[in-house]
Amino acid sequence: MTTVNAVAALDGLPISDPASLQDVRVEVPRLRPHDVLVRVEAVSVNPVDVKVRTGLGPQEVPRVLGWDAAGTVEAVGEAVTSLSVGEEVWYAGDVTRPGSNTELQAVDERIVSRKPTSLSFAEAAALPLTSITAWESLFDRLRLGPGSTGTLAVLAGAGGVGSVLVQLAKQLTGVRVVAGAGKPESRSWVEDLGADAVFDHHDLVASLGEVAPDGVELLFSPNSAGNVEAFAQVVKPFGHVVAIDDPVGLDLFPLKSRSIAWHWELMFTRPVHQTPDLAEQSRLLGEVAALVDAGRVRTTMTTAIDDFSAAGLREAHRLVETGRTVGKVVVHR
Ligand SMILES: NC(=O)c1ccc[n+]([C@@H]2O[C@H](COP(=O)([O-])OP(=O)(O)OC[C@H]3O[C@@H](n4cnc5c(N)ncnc54)[C@H](OP(=O)(O)O)[C@@H]3O)[C@@H](O)[C@H]2O)c1
Repeated sequence: MTTVNAVAALDGLPISDPASLQDVRVEVPRLRPHDVLVRVEAVSVNPVDVKVRTGLGPQEVPRVLGWDAAGTVEAVGEAVTSLSVGEEVWYAGDVTRPGSNTELQAVDERIVSRKPTSLSFAEAAALPLTSITAWESLFDRLRLGPGSTGTLAVLAGAGGVGSVLVQLAKQLTGVRVVAGAGKPESRSWVEDLGADAVFDHHDLVASLGEVAPDGVELLFSPNSAGNVEAFAQVVKPFGHVVAIDDPVGLDLFPLKSRSIAWHWELMFTRPVHQTPDLAEQSRLLGEVAALVDAGRVRTTMTTAIDDFSAAGLREAHRLVETGRTVGKVVVHR
């Protein structure tokens, strides 16, 4: 049995516990027909890593987390047609399969693309999961395009997803983009990314009212819990909200009077449900890579931890758990 180094959770322990993420050896994955085997050079940590880790009970098999990676193709499955050995790739992956916190990961070619050539592995690893989420929110759920008009409010504009979504909305749609920020660092970050105006998302109705006095047609929400009443005040009649968080038991009734539409976006829907359009994720990652190489979208990496081990990943989880990071935290070799 050939094994490789990986970092895994064996139980849902607090991140301050050194046993919360451990250095382990795991078997080299067996490839499914459409899989590529990737030598992972860099990963980024997302809130989903924290949610999966903290939700675990005792594990018989170590659970390898990590759903954002950049690396090099080392082998290909028998049905692979789009990628070859030696190509540099990026991807988020599939939450139902072992993640990217490992030396060698198997991932379906239909959710992988070549990485931007202008970025290092670390700079690239910051982007895939959040780019897929932002792209699907803007273009699949809200169906925006170059001719779209109106104002889009982006809550948590400096968060991982918001940082890509602001850039894609400015580059590829006609809407005015107003970004939510709490702290001064978030405010200057979203201004640098191209936001047309900034509001304080912790004082949503009053602050958004200052930059969009007539309300907004579109709202992106990574923070829906406790905010639906406010959304019903700031979103115009027949407007749209796209939400990506997990507010269990959310009551949407306040939106009825204005006939406001609610869209869910989950970037794992395609891989988890093996939808017929699975390869759209490869295609959209390729489009984002081209935008990056054209200088139209930039990496959102703000912290790079040069320690691809349990200790390095514990530090990355600790930072992401604060819920206050600007941009993305990356761990690389
Ligand atoms: N459905 C999907 O496919 C999908 C994909 C990715 C992420 N998600 C989920 O979406 C959420 C955000 O993800 P992310 O990666 O963007 O998170 P993140 O990078 O951790 O977001 C951090 C930012 O959130 C802002 N923030 C913190 N609390 C806030 C609040 N109550 N209201 C508004 N903004 C707040 C902070 O800005 P200030 O400090 O300046 O306030 C901070 O800059 C998470 O729950 C994540 O699990 C879902």
